[in-house]
Amino acid sequence: MSGERTAALGVADTHVTAGVIDSDRGASRPGASASGALGRPDPVPGEPLLQVTDLRVQFTRGGRCVRAVNGLSYELVPGRMMAIIGESGSGKSVSSRALMGLLPPTAQITGSIRFDGRELLGLSEGELRKLRGGDIAMVFQDPARSLNPTMKIGLQITEAIRAHSDLDKKGAHARAIELLRLVRLPAPERRFHEYPHQLSGGMRQRVMIAIALAGEPRLLIADEATTALDVTTQAQIMDLLVELQERLGMAVIMISHDLGLAASYAQDVVVMYAGRAVEHAPTRTLFANVRMPYTRALLGAIPALEREPHSLLPVTPGQPPDLAALPKGCPFRPRCANATDTCLEEPALLEHEPEHSYACWHPCGTEDRAAGNRATDNRATEIGEQR
Ligand SMILES: Nc1ncnc2c1ncn2[C@@H]1O[C@H](COP(=O)(O)OP(=O)(O)O)[C@@H](O)[C@H]1O
Ligand code: SF4
Ligand SMILES: [Mg+2]
Repeated sequence: MSGERTAALGVADTHVTAGVIDSDRGASRPGASASGALGRPDPVPGEPLLQVTDLRVQFTRGGRCVRAVNGLSYELVPGRMMAIIGESGSGKSVSSRALMGLLPPTAQITGSIRFDGRELLGLSEGELRKLRGGDIAMVFQDPARSLNPTMKIGLQITEAIRAHSDLDKKGAHARAIELLRLVRLPAPERRFHEYPHQLSGGMRQRVMIAIALAGEPRLLIADEATTALDVTTQAQIMDLLVELQERLGMAVIMISHDLGLAASYAQDVVVMYAGRAVEHAPTRTLFANVRMPYTRALLGAIPALEREPHSLLPVTPGQPPDLAALPKGCPFRPRCANATDTCLEEPALLEHEPEHSYACWHPCGTEDRAAGNRATDNRATEIGEQR
């Protein structure tokens, strides 16, 4: 991390003798290039850092073929946060684990995943290991399970640091304290010597983020990283991720089942259903004009302030499809109020409006609207305006 970035994050007083971090501008770690603040060349301007094209992941389970990811495509440029949202089982985690090479050998993966122009599918385990925790890092939902309960957190962070640098013990210790400060863990010197169970859930998640940052990733994937936290802590962790994304220039993929959370924090939203992207747009565009009946249904399920006290939360009607027996045509058809016979043919994800792609034959808001849809439209506008 360069002096500039360190200063920007308010930890300019940190000095690490091993040469990795130095508050003097221009000082850098051994092997760092002059151009890249993290010692790596910046991607070509305007070029996506990540390009996922027609990604497909299948598992064979009990003689049945489960199509967990079914033709997913998207791009992500550096310094942006993209949300991938969808109900449980829509393929969010499997698709992001595919990026990290973290799927079991039983997974059959096709398509293309290009990171900074390099194809990741087909890399050896050794090459993938170098990438994991280095260029691409991941934070999971359950820090209690991801952290080793028998190891002090300081050691867990320094191990991650030393796996991705030439730092000695002393240098790694100083870097760990700096990272803990960066993720705003209170009293980092003291916490360094504590075990995971001595920390709150929010603090443990901060430690996990510090570990993820140890390899100075250019892409951070946060898979339901705040789902297990209370609402206040969730907001604090999301604010932290936004701050890190902006100041470190990282690309962030936040995976969530919560469209409201995506609306509040992400700049782009990909809505997934049955393993594919069904709506994709910059967040403001999407919330100004929700087109997919499925996205509309998810929006309807967001609790509204004006809801009667103790009233039941609405749920998206119907069940997600069996990924081993997808219906013919549009996979949302059995649950969709707009469905017609046309939907027996599968719609492609196309950019029907500027920067706004959706896969639907009868998108919402482009024809006469049913009266029942208007309330959800208002809710979409309200959420869009809160951003
Ligand atoms: N290792 C596996 N073997 C077989 N099926 C799996 C495996 N991992 C995930 N799946 C299936 O893939 C589908 C998508 O899962 P996942 O990506 O975890 O969903 P989510 O959107 O909730 O993150 C689910 O139906 C899940 O059961
Ligand atoms: S294509 Fe048809 S079934 Fe699918 S979401 Fe659109 S209207 Fe509904
Ligand atoms: Mg998941």
